[in-house]
Amino acid sequence: MIVPAKPRVFSGIQPSGELHIGNWLGAVRTWAAQVEEQREDLLFCIVDAHAITVEYEPSDLRQRIDVMARDLVACGLDPDKCTLFVQSDVREHTELAWYLANVTPLGDLHRMTQFKEKSAGKEHVLVGLYTYPVLMAADILLYKATVVPVGDDQLQHLELARETVRRYNFRFGELFPEPQPRISKGSRIMGLDGQGKMSKSKGNTIALFEPRESFWTKLRGAFTDPQRLRRSDPGRPEVCNIYTMHKSVSSSDEVELTYEECTTARRGCIDCKKILMDNFDRELVPLRTRRAELKAHPERVRQALADGAAKARRMATETMREVREVMGLGAQPAGG
Ligand code: AMP
Ligand code: TRP
Repeated sequence: MIVPAKPRVFSGIQPSGELHIGNWLGAVRTWAAQVEEQREDLLFCIVDAHAITVEYEPSDLRQRIDVMARDLVACGLDPDKCTLFVQSDVREHTELAWYLANVTPLGDLHRMTQFKEKSAGKEHVLVGLYTYPVLMAADILLYKATVVPVGDDQLQHLELARETVRRYNFRFGELFPEPQPRISKGSRIMGLDGQGKMSKSKGNTIALFEPRESFWTKLRGAFTDPQRLRRSDPGRPEVCNIYTMHKSVSSSDEVELTYEECTTARRGCIDCKKILMDNFDRELVPLRTRRAELKAHPERVRQALADGAAKARRMATETMREVREVMGLGAQPAGG
């Protein structure tokens, strides 16, 4: 088994258009910190082939890929320091997914809760949506990734990928390392309406690069502690989404003070949100600047994606050579 010398980190994000503060705090910001540290070999993939498992418009998808790529770079996924690419630019993802489908029992896919949720009540459910976790396993295995940063909603899929490695290695010999999950320390951000997680499909988000004014209008109207009806009522930070966000963007002193002042009703929710807004602003200024520069030079992002795909493809080709070899596929043994 050829194992990478440095830990190899792989993660994927769907090209959902603009990032929102949920996926920034929950995922992308932690990725950017890892890029900054440079202790690991990092691959980040815009998973467009996953995005076609639900209804979509082709022209829309292309645009969403571009926007996502630009925003990821603006957030700190510097293409000189990590491999940033689009999934379908490396065709080996779908090839490996087919091979892995042949070591994956049907029963395993039946258990996937995300499939159950996404298909519930729908008349037309696509095979692609069902086999989505197999493609996700292929994404990870193709690069022999050892660490996969994901939100807890993806843990079940990752467990399936680990199981796939065990089955594959048992059947064909030790080829893949077992990828370990890394749950980001940013917490799960709830929607502005307080109804479940912040998610584009629920329309309860604040876009990360929303103009400051509408950012504030949305934050101002966000759900807090439902039992805090009057300004004089003490609040319960542990159930408040604004407090969760403070924990991600404010200093530890500020977080402590927020807790104090909220639970003793010395601070009202609007004041609390104003402080949070200032802290968001402080973090977002450099990102906004970078994003404006990239917007003026779209060719830079395009080039970065082309370079990223070329790098990823080299790794993928090497893995697939081994895969075909151990599985007895192809007319030519070893790398024809
Ligand atoms: P998605 O936009 O669903 O493809 O998610 C991209 C990444 O952001 C995944 O790692 C998710 O777990 C994470 N993420 C998405 N929404 C949230 C949220 N509301 N709070 C925290 N993390 C999130
Ligand atoms: N399924 C993941 C999500 O919806 C995205 C994804 C696709 C992914 N392939 C991956 C994440 C590989 C980690 C590793 O968030």
